Amino acid sequence: MEKFIAQKRGISRYEGNKLNILGVETSCDETAAAVCTNGCILSNIISSQKIHQSFGGVVPELASREHERLLNSLVFRAIEEAGISLSSLEGIAVTKGPGLAGTLLAGVCFSKGLAQGLKIPVIGINHLEAHIFASFLENPNLTFPFVCLLVSGGHTQVWLINEIDNYELMGETRDDAAGEAFDKGARILGLGYPGGPEIEKLACNGNPKTIDFPKSFMKTNAIEFSFSGLKTSLLYYMDHFDESDDTISIEDVAASYQNAIIEVLIHKLKQTLEMTHVKTCVIAGGVAANNQLRQKAHQMLPKISLSFPGLVYCTDNAAMVAFLGELKLKAGYTSPINFGVKPNLQLQV
Ligand code: KG4
Ligand code: ZN
Repeated sequence: MEKFIAQKRGISRYEGNKLNILGVETSCDETAAAVCTNGCILSNIISSQKIHQSFGGVVPELASREHERLLNSLVFRAIEEAGISLSSLEGIAVTKGPGLAGTLLAGVCFSKGLAQGLKIPVIGINHLEAHIFASFLENPNLTFPFVCLLVSGGHTQVWLINEIDNYELMGETRDDAAGEAFDKGARILGLGYPGGPEIEKLACNGNPKTIDFPKSFMKTNAIEFSFSGLKTSLLYYMDHFDESDDTISIEDVAASYQNAIIEVLIHKLKQTLEMTHVKTCVIAGGVAANNQLRQKAHQMLPKISLSFPGLVYCTDNAAMVAFLGELKLKAGYTSPINFGVKPNLQLQV
């Protein structure tokens, strides 16, 4: 297998011929399609399924059916908005995992069918790797090595990214992911799904220092996270919360809860940067959309070259899939047509 086209200092995205790549993302409840050419995103369509809102979380069977219903029109819209023709597509990149088995299947089956019909290659993409590489969309000058805090609904991990295809896992959560902590916290507070943006909105008008929620592993050097105790602590707190008592508001509770998550994330990121002596860092995944997290990271890591994907590339999207797909296809990687979905796919270490 060919080695990736990579330079020690960054990705040489413009090496080799440009390719028109369609990206397809259906790992959870976002149906998304995008077109990437030469590292530039020409279109990026995302449909967040509203159908789950009344359930307070994603219902897998409903999500799969929604993907099947939406994919065709979304993909054709993405091609049209990109200003290219269907016949000029040169490859399809589709998320193969991790994610929900049924929703992944919807995207992979659709992509394989289209690729076969057009007689173009298809490549299965690791969703986690795509989140990490989304950072290059905002910051094309990002250089290796860098530390990546990957914070999404299913993952909270710290990676040392040495270069493309060379990743070291520095630490991860023992239980809930940071996004999950936001989602479960929001549910306890009676807010909507996804919980991250809801808690962030409420927290804007609260004092983060009001309640001292537990922050795990703050006193150890281990790069580990645990958020399940925090969620339980919120649950107990709310059992005794009295809305008529005007000394502590619900906004204060949300701000304190959010602060407990963010402080641990940044503290562990800082420890990893000190340990590895790496001076470049990115924060990626859905939780990276959090404004307070962004501000705090800049505040706490003043000497680090820090970047975040643009807001639209933090939460699930197909642009990141198409972008990584183009890099891989240019390097000669493809997937055999019988490749399967991998709901528990890890990032290769
Ligand atoms: O990356 P993503 O879209 O999906 C996964 O791969 O899991 O991340 C979704 C997670 C959800 O848990 C959501 O609550 C969280 O990202 N999230 C946020 C914000 N926007 C999305 N968390 C905190 N603040 C936000 N603004
Ligand atoms: Zn994701």
